[in-house]
Amino acid sequence: MAEQKAKLSIKNTNVELDILSGTLGPEVVDVSSLFKTGYFTYDPGFMSTASCESKITYIDGDEGILLYRGYPIDQLARSSSFVEVCYLLLHGELPNKIEFKEFCNAINRHTMVHEQIRNFFNGFRRDAHPMAVMVGVVGALSAFYHDKLNIKDPEHRAISALRLIAKMPTIAAMCYKYSVGQPFMPPKNKMTYAENFLYMMFGTPCEDYIPNPVLARALDRIFILHADHEQNASTSTVRLAGSTGANPFACISAGIAALWGPAHGGANEAALNMLHEIGDISQIPKYIARAKDPNDNFRLMGFGHRVYKNYDPRAKVMRETCYEVLEAVGAHHDPFFKIAMELERIALEDPYFIDRKLYPNVDFYSGITLSAIGIPPNMFTVIFALARTIGWIAHWNEMISSPYRLSRPRQLYTGPTERNYVPMKTREPVS
Ligand code: SDX
Repeated sequence: MAEQKAKLSIKNTNVELDILSGTLGPEVVDVSSLFKTGYFTYDPGFMSTASCESKITYIDGDEGILLYRGYPIDQLARSSSFVEVCYLLLHGELPNKIEFKEFCNAINRHTMVHEQIRNFFNGFRRDAHPMAVMVGVVGALSAFYHDKLNIKDPEHRAISALRLIAKMPTIAAMCYKYSVGQPFMPPKNKMTYAENFLYMMFGTPCEDYIPNPVLARALDRIFILHADHEQNASTSTVRLAGSTGANPFACISAGIAALWGPAHGGANEAALNMLHEIGDISQIPKYIARAKDPNDNFRLMGFGHRVYKNYDPRAKVMRETCYEVLEAVGAHHDPFFKIAMELERIALEDPYFIDRKLYPNVDFYSGITLSAIGIPPNMFTVIFALARTIGWIAHWNEMISSPYRLSRPRQLYTGPTERNYVPMKTREPVS
């Protein structure tokens, strides 16, 4: 029962609305019954709207805090593993040794995809963007598991979560192999999650491939940093799709589609392309000026965030990881890393960015890091989708396993009032 009330007075209507408190972060005003007054709330972009209650991830944008089930992201990135973080996000607690071993074994039983899945790839052009392929192939998975799609059954939800966590690296690597015309490499379960992904990406049938442990560790950390981020656009898409009762593979496919946009998960590819376009440190002032020009729609990709009005805690870890990878591959003089560091330095001293609290976000350094690992830019968002799948499925599961309602927003209508149909022959030509 809410202890506090908000009083709202609209013309001659007065309502009292419950104020609800969480464990951390802002309290919320429950407006779910406001429609009974004949009024809706209006919040394009959902700047002030909490769409749900969740126990999974907490972000404090002003303090630059990110917690997965209460654990700070920098501690998890430095001390945990992506598979352990998957268990944590899904089940709410860190696993003990037995739980972790069972979870790893369960994932390993699902890393392969049905042989028929290969046929979906052949329908795409080789130069198709890998994200277009991934959206299609992941959505098609529901055609293979129709016997386990009763979302009300916890066991069906559990097996779908395992299948998605296990198969996303395999499908992601297949998207890359298809784009370069190389044979698909089946997973090797004796490897770790990140090692296996590197093997499926860069291994060939012609010779042995041993993943570089520094690169595998860096990739595992990148997966951890991208695993979840509360109600971001793609996670909200998964929740909305899930609220219709759609199967989990269709919901994750919708999340992948939403993540693709350059304002969201597509920013890592866009950030690296921006660094290439800048090309030289001497060109930075020109691009900073463009980013500040209200008449130029150019933005510094990898900068700014809807929630973080402080340094994105993931960007700090990402920058350290970037430097480690560049050192490991002997590219510590990478010109784009130097451009990125100088761009960050200049932007963080510029009043335009300071006044708007625009800081580098997770995407600013991830592109340079992934590029140094050997991953092409058009695969960056595929990697993001691979990592974010656990976040999407954890939120989907959290919603479906508790009472929920169909998500169906209302609107402010500003179109024509009612009018009668006019037959074509009597319509005046538009001058
Ligand atoms: C991700 O939601 C999540 O949690 C997402 C994510 C996750 O893990 O799921 O964190 C991943 O999507 C990170 C964000 C990646 N996107 C980019 O790096 C693209 C570049 N960033 C911008 O497009 C922008 O910052 C957004 C979209 C991220 C946030 O936009 P908002 O919150 O809608 O803010 P805004 O567009 O209203 O900007 C406020 C002001 C505006 O200027 P004014 O109109 O007030 O004069 O800041 C300016 C904007 O023009 N601004 C920028 C800028 N970002 C905002 N100006 C230049 N360069 C930028 N990058």
